[in-house]
Parts: sequence; C-alpha cells; structure tokens
Amino acid sequence: MIPRITIAQAGQHIGEMVEIAGWLYNIRRSGKIAFPILRDGYGLMQCVAVKSALPKELFESIKNLTQESSIIVTGKIRAEQRAPGGYEMDLESLQVLQRVPESDPYPITPKDHGTDFLMDHRHLWLRSQRQHAIIRVRHEVIKAVRDYFDSHGFTLVDTPIFTPAACEGTTTLFEVDYFDDEKAYLTQSGQLYNEATAMAFGKVYCFGPTFRAEKSKTRRHLTEFWMVEPEMAYATLEDVKRVAEELIVFIVGRVLENRQEELKRLERDTSKLEAIQAPFGRMSYDDAVKLLQAKGSEIQWGGDFGGTDETMITADQQRPVMVDRFPTSIKAFYFEPDAERPEVVLGVDILAPEGYGEIIGGGQRIHDAELLLQRIEAHKLPKEAFDWYIDLRKYGSVPHAGFGMGIERCVSWMCGLEHIRETIAFPRMLNRLRP
Ligand code: 4AD
Ligand code: MG
Repeated sequence: MIPRITIAQAGQHIGEMVEIAGWLYNIRRSGKIAFPILRDGYGLMQCVAVKSALPKELFESIKNLTQESSIIVTGKIRAEQRAPGGYEMDLESLQVLQRVPESDPYPITPKDHGTDFLMDHRHLWLRSQRQHAIIRVRHEVIKAVRDYFDSHGFTLVDTPIFTPAACEGTTTLFEVDYFDDEKAYLTQSGQLYNEATAMAFGKVYCFGPTFRAEKSKTRRHLTEFWMVEPEMAYATLEDVKRVAEELIVFIVGRVLENRQEELKRLERDTSKLEAIQAPFGRMSYDDAVKLLQAKGSEIQWGGDFGGTDETMITADQQRPVMVDRFPTSIKAFYFEPDAERPEVVLGVDILAPEGYGEIIGGGQRIHDAELLLQRIEAHKLPKEAFDWYIDLRKYGSVPHAGFGMGIERCVSWMCGLEHIRETIAFPRMLNRLRP
C-alpha cells in the first residue's frame, strides 16, 4: 500500500513512494518534460514528469492538464531547494478525477483580475495562495483568542443571535420577522447577556457572529463580523485595559510564532508586529481631541472619531493606543459614568497602529439600577425588553466590565491588508451578499 500524505508531511517521506490528492495549481511543460504543480490545501508540490520514463498516454494526459483539475499523483519525494515548498515529486502515475474542460476554463488565471471580479468568484478565489495565507492567519488569531481566555479562568458562554432589543444603538439593527407578528433583531453584541452570565460564572466570554446594518462603505466595516467579548464580575475599566493589552500581545506573539510562512507570502513587515509589546500608549479622550486639533483636525470636544482621526492618533506610535473617558453623549447607554466627571464614561477604545483603527471597544458597565433606568429612558429604548437586564442590578449587583474585539479588524492588521473584505471567507458588506 502506498501511503496517502499531505504536502505538509513531505519532509517525513524523502525517498519514499507516496500518493497526494489535490488540484492542478499550474503547469510548465516542454516536449520531453512537464512540471505540474499540485496544491492540496497544505502547500504546493512541484512534480516532475519525464516523457521517456512514463507510458505515452499518461505523459500526454499530464501535458494536457488544465488549471484546477482534480488529480491524485503518485511518486517518490525528493528534497529540492529550488522547488516552492522545498520538495519535489518524481511522478510515476497520475489519476484525473475531473478535468476542467478547455471550453469552460477556471476563471481565475495567474494574470491580474479586478477586485469585483475576484469578489464575485470568492468561492474559487479562496484557493489562491494569498487568500490561503490570510485565512490561516485568521485561524491562528482565533485559536490564540480561545487559548488566552481558556487559560485565564474565563468560561465560554455563547449568547443568542436573535435578540428582542438593541445593544449598540438602534440605527444599525437588522430586523427579522419572528413568530406571531413579533420582531427580532440580529445581535449587535453579546455583551448584555454576558453581563448575566458573568454574575453566574465570574469571568466569561462569548465568541460568535455579530451584525450591524452599517451603511458605511469603508475598508474597516462588514455587516456581519465575528466578535470575541469577555466580561468580568467585580472588575473595572482598569481591568479591561490590562486584559485587552495582554490579549493583544498574546495574539501577536502566536501569529509571529506559527505563521511566519503566511506573513512572508503576504509580504507583511513583521518588524511592525514584533514591536507590539506592553505597555501600550494611554491617552484620555480630552488629550486625543487636543492632539487631533494640533494636527489640523476639525474635531471638537464631544465629537466621535472618524477613521482618519483614529489613524492620526496612532500615526507616531508603534504600539496600540488606548483612548479612554469618552463623552457620555456619544457612547452606548450601558457605560458607567466617571464618578468625578459624569460627562465622560469609563469606556476605552484601543486603536491599532499603521492606520488599522479601533480593534477593541469596551469599559465598565452601570451597576446601579436607578441610573440604568434613567439611561434606558434617555436613549428611548423599550424598557420591557430590558427587564431581565435591570434584574442584574437588583440581585447582587457589582461593578463589572468587559470588551469586544472584532476578529476581522485584528486579522486585517496582522496581515497588513488594504481592506477587511479578505479576512473572512464570505464577506457581507453594504453591497455584497453573494456568493
Ligand atoms: O465598539 P463596539 O461597537 O462595542 C461593542 O459592541 C461592545 N458591546 C463590546 C463589549 O464591550 N462587549 O464593537 C467592538 C469591536 C470594535 O472595536 C471593532 O473591532 C469591531 O467590534 N467592529 C466591527 N468590525 C467589523 N465591521 C464592523 N461594522 C464593526 N463594528 C465593530
Ligand atoms: Mg466602538
């Protein structure tokens, strides 16, 4: 029996006969020799097919292979420094499962295609080397996030996607018909439910898809994105900053440790990631506004930062910057006001360097029932939908805090991408619901 291996395992099989199943990535050919390059989801393997060493029909079928045809190859592995993955296969046989016909060739060729074309063919584009690298970095980021929380006493408690009320403001809600004329909304954040589970478990996190009907067409916005949200009982804004900083340093460390090859393929300047160490810069909203004004921004105290402002705040920084104490008027209803200055809240945004903007938002929650009720009313939110949430302030209320990190924003930064759309297999945006 010839063993079936993946390209990643080639190094353990030098000099042996093996079988690899995959797709034709590319082929170079001349009269007497052909070099089909196979991809199998793990790497690339250049095969060498010599006419004189193979049956005539087999050599002809290899020579006529078309891009992305599904094939299983058999041959001996050899170390070859000049080959793409460091190994080559001397081909002895090749089985074609499905040959892509010349009449309807694989649409993505090695030439340059426009972004719209590639996005329309996202289901195929994912096979390309660059997309492969990005999704592998994403997997590493997610694994690091889970490992971090799992090893720091957090219990995973996932929260619902159908919700009866808004968490992050009513302007970005996706409404769906529930039963019996009831409306439901796709969740904008699991935070409110996490506040309940934190009172049951102490430290929790949820990690799932979140939805925002954002009409923003920017390089940072998706309508469906994945967010990880830790929440801690008996915790304050300072705990949020400490945990968020540790988490980011941990994620960057893991990506550098395990995804060098992918970062190289993406031509990422890894020195920028190596610079991500604690402590991060800390700045109040007040000082951030002054800094922006000094740099020529039109922003006034009380205004929210736009993408350009965020980029300007971190422009001279190699590390992320934590901006805290935002005006109460621009933040969600649940933020705890600063006891000494109720016009600002105990909230923090963490801005990534290199223009990647806000990757984390969070802070301390109101734990007083009276104050919470006032804020729900001031924000014109339906009180009935929050009865259970107010209960948390009636039965053993404690200071508590947490944050949310958008996975795609983080991956975009790790990979050094121009646009967030490549960080998720099938992005959902203002103008894109397909494929
Ligand atoms: O700042 P946001 O809106 O905070 C919350 O939702 C809180 N309830 C989280 C919490 O405290 N538990 O969103 C948090 C993060 C942002 O910093 C950003 O990384 C990401 O979610 N995010 C988006 N990512 C992609 N596309 C969008 N439209 C995003 N909106 C927010
Ligand atoms: Mg935010």
